[in-house]
Amino acid sequence: MYWPPRHASSLHGSQGAGRPQRRQKAWPRVGLIERGARTRARLGAITAAIAAALALGGCSLISPAGAASAVGAGGPISGTGPITFATGKLDTGYLAPLIASWNAAHPTQKVTPIYLPDDSDDQYAQLVTNLQARSSVYDVMSLDVIWTAEFASSGWITPLSARQFPLSQFLRPAVATATYQGHLYAVPFTSNAGLLYYRKDILAAAGAAPPKTWAQLAYLARTLAPRYHIGGYGGQFQAYEGLTVNFAEAVQSAGGSLLSPSGAAVTVDSPQAAEALQFLVSGFRQGWIPQAALGWNEAASQQAFEAGKLLFLRNWPYVYGDASQPGPGNVVAGKFGVTTLPGLHGPGSSTLGGANLAISAYAQHPATALAFIKYLTSEPTERYILERSALPPVWTSLYSQQALTEQFPFLPVLKQAILTAKPRPALVNYNQFSLAISSAVHQALAQRQSVSATLTQLSAELRQIIRSD
Ligand code: GLC
Repeated sequence: MYWPPRHASSLHGSQGAGRPQRRQKAWPRVGLIERGARTRARLGAITAAIAAALALGGCSLISPAGAASAVGAGGPISGTGPITFATGKLDTGYLAPLIASWNAAHPTQKVTPIYLPDDSDDQYAQLVTNLQARSSVYDVMSLDVIWTAEFASSGWITPLSARQFPLSQFLRPAVATATYQGHLYAVPFTSNAGLLYYRKDILAAAGAAPPKTWAQLAYLARTLAPRYHIGGYGGQFQAYEGLTVNFAEAVQSAGGSLLSPSGAAVTVDSPQAAEALQFLVSGFRQGWIPQAALGWNEAASQQAFEAGKLLFLRNWPYVYGDASQPGPGNVVAGKFGVTTLPGLHGPGSSTLGGANLAISAYAQHPATALAFIKYLTSEPTERYILERSALPPVWTSLYSQQALTEQFPFLPVLKQAILTAKPRPALVNYNQFSLAISSAVHQALAQRQSVSATLTQLSAELRQIIRSD
């Protein structure tokens, strides 16, 4: 006997956003994206919205003569001309039409996209290598929310004047991730929170509600998934940033933490963290998390879910847009729902994700970079990106508009998940901190080290790392 039919707070997949471009290995990738009929039908409204965004963001700032200047926190930002925009390539199907519109309106300040790899760690390595060499190859950079402290303290990004952006209308936690030592160094672009995707067809046939606790999730994953010859649960368990995120969420969802509230003490060697790691280790040991998941990032875990090989998946909201669109490799359109992450004793807590836009300190044309950032972060553009790719906007207003909540019924739940999500520590050497976590946790998941030995050793490593921050 499973749990009673769906809890009132559960949400169900329905028709979604246009299908963003599938993951591809080749990059850089420039040019227009092939899109589905549904997306084409929405194009008229989108074009109008983008025109409004262009008026709001770009054109008001920069005169056609190109003698633009704006004030940044570090002084005037000037210099117009062609620029590049570096961004991770996963789910950037929305970008080519936006850049095409910008370029049509700004023939002397054209933007060329530079697509970075999918994984946050690989993007980081590529950006840092160039910035350390003071390369001017990137003008505007889409930065993972975890990099602000390091990039700002290294002098790689230009301080901005907070007054120039409608920050009071943005989700507060997103603004905090773009700030370092009280100064704004980037502009919030997309936010993110982890969600639980589930096969609503399979749960409904069993009369089961979406799980709210780990015990419920594990029970369904262990007993129900095998009847369909599919895996029980998947997430991002490859040794990279995604695993740090999944582990942090598990620890928080058991009531634990990585660091004390002040950030001064490491708190990961706790009974709560042990429960959290044990939950994931048990999944691998008992087989309700497929062994292959040890190599999964966002895209690989999404592909497994879309191929119909998983009952439950932890992933970001963009998957909703993709998985709602039937296509080769996707058999779950119309058959899945999405809800908040489960936890040890009840609903869990997400890690705060997302991306901010920053101007490289080595940019040749910072005024154009600033204007382009204003355009990309304007409300009409963010609305378009939500409709097109299901990426969570930073504009608070976009979480409650009826047309949008009809298209994405999970928006109120997502907003709540973002507002209650826990940010990762804002450390100058965050990358080192995270690498220590993901490699230790991966060892434990692969059952090469016990849970308690992993946490004791990790705790010692993290103490060293935060001491040298
Ligand atoms: C998403 C999040 C980002 C996070 C990454 C981990 O891109 O937005 O904040 O670090 O996933 O893989």
